[in-house]
Amino acid sequence: MSKKYAELTLDGVTHSYPIIQSTQGENAIDISTLLRDTGHITLDRGYVNTGSCTSAITYLDGKEGILNYRGYAIDDLAENCSFVEVAYLLLHDDLPNLEQLNDFRELMSTYALIHEDMIHFFDHFPPNASPMSILSTMVNSLHNFYPEMSTHPEPFESFDNVTTRLLAKVRTIAAFSYKKSLGHPLIYPRYDLNYCENFLNMMFDKPTKPYTILPEVVSALNKLLILHADHEQNCSTSTVRLVGSAGVNLYASIAAGINALWGPLHGGAAQAVVEMLEGIYADDMDFEKYIRKAKDSNDGFRLTGFGHRVYKTFDPRATIIKKACDETLAALNVDDPLLDIAKELEDRVRSDDYFVSRNLYPNVDFYSGIIYRAMGIPTDMFTVMFALGRLPGWIAHWREMNSDEERRIGRPRQLYIGYPAKKYIPLDER
Ligand code: SDX
Repeated sequence: MSKKYAELTLDGVTHSYPIIQSTQGENAIDISTLLRDTGHITLDRGYVNTGSCTSAITYLDGKEGILNYRGYAIDDLAENCSFVEVAYLLLHDDLPNLEQLNDFRELMSTYALIHEDMIHFFDHFPPNASPMSILSTMVNSLHNFYPEMSTHPEPFESFDNVTTRLLAKVRTIAAFSYKKSLGHPLIYPRYDLNYCENFLNMMFDKPTKPYTILPEVVSALNKLLILHADHEQNCSTSTVRLVGSAGVNLYASIAAGINALWGPLHGGAAQAVVEMLEGIYADDMDFEKYIRKAKDSNDGFRLTGFGHRVYKTFDPRATIIKKACDETLAALNVDDPLLDIAKELEDRVRSDDYFVSRNLYPNVDFYSGIIYRAMGIPTDMFTVMFALGRLPGWIAHWREMNSDEERRIGRPRQLYIGYPAKKYIPLDER
């Protein structure tokens, strides 16, 4: 098929830029020579129209509400796989066979502990320390204990060791930080438990009251982590790529992604959704007050859990989580008024032209917090749960970026709107 070009005419001169074909979704105009050809750069706030890389990991279609990991539909993966299986899929390029999955699981069990010296770090965070701050600090510190990632390894001969070490240890760090926040004794990972069973047991088992691991809760947690596992070039993943493009080790790159995810417009939304629903509950269910505030452009308030940069229809993940919500709360015999409030709010939003005209639908964060609450996970750990899920996606993108023959350090340009050159004025003349 003959190559297609886009033409740009500027000051009477026409320039041609090649169209790069995708395997699915938007094609791209390669403007690599734009500045040299025209003396102009592009300006695209928030990179709404700008691709920073090529990637073979995840495909999103915002119009159709499609999300595929390495070609597999998210619904199929959430319904049929474990989180560890999907992590393997993202980190390699296909689902594992039984032997590969068992080897991967074995490595996860092998690397589940953190260095005992790291446990003392928890003693020195203030009692109200943010779990996300603790998580990024501890992940960044892993570099000091496992320096083999001090430079990006090429080829990734021990890549499975490094990635399972990070996946297993981040889960342990998250559970330990929760136990420490309660002043409870740490519960160590067990060889006989799988990834999700171990996490739940480390979080909720107590010497005085053994925790019963319910299959329905394990299934819901697997689903939630799978649904959060990757989402192409979102804010935190792009951060991991940008920081990693400077040749920074994996742990520091992931710590940067954790910090980006912390934001209430990104991974912090699940916590903000529950706080918003609690606000409506405390406000005698005054839905209209919150909807009015969200529609008022002079009011900084937004209905958190709604809207998305890419999805202009239902976020496929929200649909799956909403169904899992009903199933999990029924299995746990939990009757959470926040679920009814969430459903009522969704109904009102979906019949209000302000939101409909802006294609604002529930996103991945709208219902997830309600399931985490039912499991007993504290609200301030919801974003940590998002990070646990997103970790294999971040690692996969870091590896893909480092393996890209055409990789370059990320360095966007800017449109300068400051002062023109000024003459220096000595201090005694100012
Ligand atoms: C995640 O990128 C990813 O893939 C992210 C994520 C992932 O898996 O990594 O999917 C996870 O981050 C989900 C999003 C979680 N954040 C929230 O739920 C916070 C609430 N949502 C919004 O802040 C907003 O929708 C964003 C940040 C998600 C998207 O912002 P955009 O694409 O920049 O949208 P926009 O700000 O340009 O909004 C377009 C219009 C504006 O109104 P007008 O200026 O046209 O009049 O829609 C309005 C906005 O004011 N709008 C909202 C709204 N979201 C957008 N109005 C009220 N409530 C909202 N939630």
